[in-house]
Amino acid sequence: MSLYSTNGDNQVVIGNLPATQLAKNYGTPLQVYDVDSIRQQIRAFKNEFTKKNISGTVSYASKALSIKAIYQIIEEENAHADVVSGGELATAIAAGFPAHNLSFHGNNKSRFELDYAIKNGIGMVIVDNFHELDLLDQVLKVNNAHVNILIRVTPGISAHTHEYIQTGQADSKFGFDIHSGQADHALQIALANKRINVLGIHAHIGSQIFDTQGFELESQKLIHLLSNWEEKYDFTAQILNIGGGFGIKYTNGDDPLKPEAILGDVLDHIQHEYDLLQKSVPSIWIEPGRAIVGPAGYSLYTIGSRKDVPGLQPYLTVDGGMGDNLRPALYQAEYAAVLAENPNASNYETVHLAGKYCESGDILIDHLKLPQTKPGDTIVILATGAYGYSMASNYNRNPRPAVVFVENGEAKMVVKRETFADLIQNDLDY
Ligand SMILES: Cc1ncc(COP(=O)(O)O)c(C=O)c1O
Repeated sequence: MSLYSTNGDNQVVIGNLPATQLAKNYGTPLQVYDVDSIRQQIRAFKNEFTKKNISGTVSYASKALSIKAIYQIIEEENAHADVVSGGELATAIAAGFPAHNLSFHGNNKSRFELDYAIKNGIGMVIVDNFHELDLLDQVLKVNNAHVNILIRVTPGISAHTHEYIQTGQADSKFGFDIHSGQADHALQIALANKRINVLGIHAHIGSQIFDTQGFELESQKLIHLLSNWEEKYDFTAQILNIGGGFGIKYTNGDDPLKPEAILGDVLDHIQHEYDLLQKSVPSIWIEPGRAIVGPAGYSLYTIGSRKDVPGLQPYLTVDGGMGDNLRPALYQAEYAAVLAENPNASNYETVHLAGKYCESGDILIDHLKLPQTKPGDTIVILATGAYGYSMASNYNRNPRPAVVFVENGEAKMVVKRETFADLIQNDLDY
């Protein structure tokens, strides 16, 4: 499967619009999304639940891209979303996303954030630790309110992934440990609280997972725990949330199973486990972020300066970098990129594709094969839709790029490019 499409003029197209035209109309650096790809991935996940006849919910992990427009697409597709901060929650609410379809994650939610979530009628809070149970109790009392929760646990599964982005192992800052009995204790506290309605359990084992094994081990552990909870505390879960982490293809070296194929196999496995227990399967929730927006996103840059040193790989620099895509500098994430015109011309040289930020580590792609380029050419980095714009910063006081959504051959700007005035709007004179 190719990571990009071209038209008859041999130009890279995004949702049928040439990347060069988008770059010309909106300027670069530019983040572009193919909305149809987002919709198709949500539908593909949902379709697996239907095929397997298992009740399920797709809850988009909006940390992957949290802007008003994405919440609106998610809502149009009748999916849920999860947020991990008051800011993400405020963005979803400003987008008109129904709060009752939102779940609130985070390992250190503040009193203010919990209060804001409760006042806005959050669908559920995914409780992470004892401090939070305590805060939540206080906030619920002050608001005379009730809330649905899931209990987040760490099942001690190490999914096959990059070590910096694993969260499922027992030595994790997230969730209640199962082995030591903390998860049981959390359930007991929650069940004893009349304002809290425990709907079930949650775990997330990591990111960029390419196969089913980790999810299968995870679900086995969670089902076992739930079975214990039923016996010990007469608690029956309505929801089993297995988290996100479905991997995507970033480069031709990646060979993940399709996210929906992973889900299908995991659902079979869950069904089998419940059949053995002679119990019915609760509602299964998943929280994909990357799989929904990652492949749909493209970063467009203009090539500028070039540094050639005899005997060394040249540096080709673009007008963006770690400020709009931190992943390569943060955890050596790898991407593929092509020129917007004639992307399949033969490769003449291998370059470092560098960013413009004042860090030697600001290299977007370390070894990129490209045809000869000239300043002003548009280059497209592929599959940048997840954790790119959402991690963007104003480092070096560079404005963050505009975001454009393309659908049915039409482009729409959904986030404006920041201006210099935006950069200093909160600065005060001394
Ligand atoms: C709790 C939780 N759910 C879902 C996700 C989404 O993961 P991904 O974007 O890899 O699907 C994350 C990512 O860190 C997470 O921490």
